[in-house]
Amino acid sequence: MTLLDKIKNHSAVVGVVGLGYVGLPLAVLQAKTGYRVIGIEDRTEKVNLVNQGSNYISDVDSAELQHVVEAKQFVATTDFAKLEECDVVLICVPTPLTRNKKPDISAIVKVTRHLSRSVHPDMLIVLESTTYPGTTEEVILGTLRKRGLKVGENLYIAFSPERVDPGNPSFKTHNTSKLVGGVTPACLEVVKTFYEQSIVKIFPVSSPRVAEMTKVFENVFRSVNIALVNELTILCDRMGISMFEVVDAAATKNFGFMPFYPGPGVGGHCIPLDPYYLAWKSKEYGLHTRFIELAGEINEGMPYFVVGKLQRILNRRERCLKGTTILILGVTYKADVEDPRESPATKVMELLQKEGADLVYSDPFTSSLALGETQYKGQDLTPALLEGCACALILTNHSAFDYEMIVRHAPLIFDTRNATRHVTGAKEHVILLS
Ligand SMILES: NC(=O)c1ccc[n+]([C@@H]2O[C@H](COP(=O)([O-])OP(=O)(O)OC[C@H]3O[C@@H](n4cnc5c(N)ncnc54)[C@H](O)[C@@H]3O)[C@@H](O)[C@H]2O)c1
Repeated sequence: MTLLDKIKNHSAVVGVVGLGYVGLPLAVLQAKTGYRVIGIEDRTEKVNLVNQGSNYISDVDSAELQHVVEAKQFVATTDFAKLEECDVVLICVPTPLTRNKKPDISAIVKVTRHLSRSVHPDMLIVLESTTYPGTTEEVILGTLRKRGLKVGENLYIAFSPERVDPGNPSFKTHNTSKLVGGVTPACLEVVKTFYEQSIVKIFPVSSPRVAEMTKVFENVFRSVNIALVNELTILCDRMGISMFEVVDAAATKNFGFMPFYPGPGVGGHCIPLDPYYLAWKSKEYGLHTRFIELAGEINEGMPYFVVGKLQRILNRRERCLKGTTILILGVTYKADVEDPRESPATKVMELLQKEGADLVYSDPFTSSLALGETQYKGQDLTPALLEGCACALILTNHSAFDYEMIVRHAPLIFDTRNATRHVTGAKEHVILLS
């Protein structure tokens, strides 16, 4: 039976490497589609959780995970030798930055090394991790072609970026359109057929490099637009105009405008990192991608702007940050997700800690938080907690927060997300980012 036949009749074995925010939902989806799935993961805790049918990613339906595990359709392991059993391998490992903002693709390199020991004829290997254009061909193809297989004849290599938006109630892995770029036309045909089994819309592009570039471009687009809004927020603050109102007003235009809202900065594993992958690669071509660097500078400056404005707000009430209780509302990087990575809230808290503020926080998704030497315990949001702080600082607009109660009980509110907009009545004590 050919690989294409196995893909079409769902008898192919699918390996998903890296069972995180991207890999776990993808593995469950493939198991639901009918494939036998082997999840290969570095961290034993995650492997144990999966094999017990215990969910640790909010975008995954716990009952579905449990069902595919109990049905032995999905099993997790730390054993990379299991790659030998796989017909299709989807690589979903992290692609962070080094301290100096250079791409760290060591996880991809490590997986590729394992693959070079296990690769066999009639195998499809797809990189899903976000990375700079050229990675699939330079790293994966470059290593695996030495194993004597013929790419496009008995080995198929492709890039297909994961576009999932964690916490998005409408778009999950199965209904988010997917790009595919194969090293050869045959690779493209195989990868396209594979994803067509489980995902609603597949868009082929001419090469892995185009797919890699498109994914990074999508995130640069967001980073730059957010930075534009954030820069104008700082201007609007000086001019006494609300940028939230301006964006809402501009969004009434019937065409040619897409709203992005101000905030305390950007977070997560994508927007603060991915653009720098491209900025780094562009230097190889003698080019400095100024939009990327500028957007990064503005977005990374927002936590400083928030803290400076909070200082001014308190100063006008004859208070200072030192020794003052600030209640942080929301510490994850965006609303309704549990992911704390690169959260601007953490940066704001670090800056406030340095100024000697007494920090207390509440977040329905995070029960404890370590900042330097200090371990903070999340508090239940109650009227007493709100009444006991000098200022409630809204950094993440989780929908579980009771904003009526927050406005009623907090003596002062600095709302960086315009989360209190639907609360009616007098709100003189609520101050927006601008
Ligand atoms: N989180 C998102 O919203 C999102 C969206 C689109 C794309 N992406 C991209 O997808 C990739 C994965 O992101 P994520 O958010 O799922 O990361 P994650 O950290 O949640 O998951 C990655 C998993 O891989 C495991 N891992 C690390 N090195 C490994 C190795 N060598 N072998 C096996 N397992 C290994 C980690 O333990 C972790 O469980 C990144 O490139 C990211 O940029 C993420």
